[in-house]
Amino acid sequence: MRTNLVSFISLATLLLAQSALAAVSIAPMPTAHGATGHIIENALPTAAQTHEVVKVPNSDVVLVSQLSNSVLVKARVDKDGQVVAVSAFQIGSASSQLHGLTLSKRFPGKVWLTLQADNLLLLVDPRPLLLNLAPRVDQEIKVPEGKGPHYIGEYGDDLWVSLQDSSAVLRISHVNTTNYDHYPALPRPIFVAQHPINKNFYSSQDNSAKIIKIDTATKKTSQIEIPASAGATPVGLISGPKGVWFTLLGSTTEGTGTIGFIGANDVVVPFKLTSQLGQNASLLHLTFDMNADSNKTLWLLSSSIINSKALDMIIKVTFDAEWTRIVSEEVTVMPTQQNKAHRIIQTAANQFFATQLATSKLVSFRTTN
Ligand SMILES: *[C@@H]1O[C@H](CO)[C@@H](O)[C@H](O)[C@H]1NC(C)=O
Ligand SMILES: *[C@@H]1O[C@H](CO)[C@@H](O)[C@H](O)[C@H]1NC(C)=O
Ligand SMILES: *[C@@H]1O[C@H](CO)[C@@H](O)[C@H](O)[C@H]1NC(C)=O
Repeated sequence: MRTNLVSFISLATLLLAQSALAAVSIAPMPTAHGATGHIIENALPTAAQTHEVVKVPNSDVVLVSQLSNSVLVKARVDKDGQVVAVSAFQIGSASSQLHGLTLSKRFPGKVWLTLQADNLLLLVDPRPLLLNLAPRVDQEIKVPEGKGPHYIGEYGDDLWVSLQDSSAVLRISHVNTTNYDHYPALPRPIFVAQHPINKNFYSSQDNSAKIIKIDTATKKTSQIEIPASAGATPVGLISGPKGVWFTLLGSTTEGTGTIGFIGANDVVVPFKLTSQLGQNASLLHLTFDMNADSNKTLWLLSSSIINSKALDMIIKVTFDAEWTRIVSEEVTVMPTQQNKAHRIIQTAANQFFATQLATSKLVSFRTTN
């Protein structure tokens, strides 16, 4: 009886305490963001250097070049971008240095490759339907002058190629390979891009703070200086709204956090990132969002490739309607650091892939709307 009374009193005390706590109000709050993206780091066959990446159109196969052992990886990805199976093929010999990869427009489904050490350009059918089927070479073009093809791009009948090892830019017709122009450049041309307005070609020279312009009408070249105040080491270079856009990698000790474009009149327009991690980013590569016309979004890759203190990051940058001002930056740091992040591509509205040069991994980055 006495025990029961004690229990009753304890229970009453507890209820009293609970109703006192319930005085704290709880109410829903508005949220500025939904869930952000998710990252999968997919292991590829081990190689000292994993480089370029493309997705074969109308297939679920992504191709990756591994330069150090001249291997082409065929990776099948599922609907979430996860690699579910891989096959790998020696292209040439182990020392041929498979490097550049670009989708052909003239031959849909086929891919142009460069063999940097063999001085060859190849058109390949990757045969994506059967993962274990070896790619087939459809055309082989010997680089007629200069050496070390890295980037390759197809523009109608012409291929534009950066000759990294002899510091030159090559235009060569793939329908008549005796029809070519060889343009000496500064060390070392990496990417080549066509200007959307003046239609001339430009190439980033990563060991010089300059971008070469090739006037296709006169076949004359000139050098466009990157102002030292903006930074140095132009690497990533692509055609975009209003001009040819580039990223500045910076030095072995300092990132620049700077991108920019060259307008139709060859004036350089730089943009400095201002977010905490963006302002010192070592920016290596870039790709415009496939809906950039409407959402004004540019994706950047920051890399530890030459600066071991730099973070490997994917940075979403949004501009104002006229591409005159950055209005927001959103940084995603890759789970594995010191990976020397190398290339980024977009394959669907919310699906991206990026290569990690040093860790033999393919990053699948999926954003949520
Ligand atoms: C191929 O290009 C060379 C050099 O421009 C030219 O002399 C030749 O006539 C071209 N051949 C054909 C079949 O068009
Ligand atoms: C980072 O960038 C800011 C802004 O450009 C600069 O003031 C600062 O010195 C940089 N920090 C480092 C560690 O490089
Ligand atoms: C870009 O625009 C498309 C369509 O307007 C949208 O689906 C996509 O999520 C946008 N991407 C970003 C990063 O805002």
